[in-house]
Amino acid sequence: MMVKSTATALLLLCGAIASPILPPASTEVDSAPKPDDSASIYDWAEGWTKDYTIHPSCNSTLRRQLREGLDEAVALAEHARDHLLKFGAESDFVQKYFGNGSTAPPVGWYDRIVNADKTGVVFRCDDPDRNCATQDQWAGHWRGANATLETVICPLSFAIRRPLSSVCNLGYTVAGSKVETFWATDLMHRLLHVPRVSEGVVEHYAEDYAGVLELAQEDPTKSPVNSDTLQYFAIDVYAYDVAAPGVGCTGGEVEGEEHSLETSTDNATAANGGAKECHTHDDGDVHCD
Ligand SMILES: *[C@@H]1O[C@H](CO)[C@@H](O)[C@H](O)[C@H]1NC(C)=O
Ligand SMILES: *[C@@H]1O[C@H](CO)[C@@H](O)[C@H](O)[C@H]1NC(C)=O
Ligand SMILES: *[C@@H]1O[C@H](CO)[C@@H](O)[C@H](O)[C@H]1NC(C)=O
Ligand SMILES: *[C@@H]1O[C@H](CO)[C@@H](O)[C@H](O)[C@H]1NC(C)=O
Repeated sequence: MMVKSTATALLLLCGAIASPILPPASTEVDSAPKPDDSASIYDWAEGWTKDYTIHPSCNSTLRRQLREGLDEAVALAEHARDHLLKFGAESDFVQKYFGNGSTAPPVGWYDRIVNADKTGVVFRCDDPDRNCATQDQWAGHWRGANATLETVICPLSFAIRRPLSSVCNLGYTVAGSKVETFWATDLMHRLLHVPRVSEGVVEHYAEDYAGVLELAQEDPTKSPVNSDTLQYFAIDVYAYDVAAPGVGCTGGEVEGEEHSLETSTDNATAANGGAKECHTHDDGDVHCD
């Protein structure tokens, strides 16, 4: 112990004699052994930004919609992660979407959406690349090489994306509707384009419902890094656990015997693409008979 002066030493000694068990009360003595309390204290978590940033080009109305959508995308990822942590491979949903692979990789990807540092990741409402204005029916896009941290949300999104509170309503089924029906699923896809979230590893290996189920059987190591798999699994377990507890709205050909590995992956399912009896309405919704 460093003792600066005889006075301090005496104080320490007296303290020790008066109450040998308790530490000395003198503040001067307390401060003596502290190491270096000068200017710079290392804060390992400084600058850790878990939130996504909304660009000033989004006015207050758009900002509010987009913030709710981003919060819901994070909530959706959080629930998917927690379902994996709670049930592991015992969940039929896990079997269905991730096959016999380890559950640790998808847990990690969902957690990156929730907790990774998003410094500089920006969502904007103007149209710097002129894709909203020139491309047919684009609801948004990642800016790619033009700005890898940036995503543009086009006006169409604000008109058609639904909140998670509507999951299983309005004719929505996991198997029969578009996965990007909701803000949460659509934005999860967009977040996974941003390398700060996906580390450039999450990609498009298989698309649509039938495609992701097939991937889980044929190449399960790809499922956790397949963007559509992460979206479909998340919305399917959200529907079953949260929106319509114990019931869900998987729909399509697995109806009546939901979540059975056999029915969801049989040959008929793979062959008809999972959408044989579905038709698309003018509003972009897919309804299945
Ligand atoms: C924000 O922009 C939208 C779309 O252009 C518009 O409908 C809305 O009125 C604007 N909100 C405000 C507060 O200006
Ligand atoms: C998982 O399934 C695939 C194909 O069905 C098989 O090749 C692989 O050995 C299995 N892996 C494990 C760990 O069981
Ligand atoms: C990047 O910018 C160029 C030039 O403005 C444009 O042609 C291209 O479409 C943009 N890329 C994306 C992904 O928007
Ligand atoms: C599934 O269908 C393929 C052709 O579409 C066929 O070769 C294969 O034998 C079938 N498998 C089963 C288990 O019926």
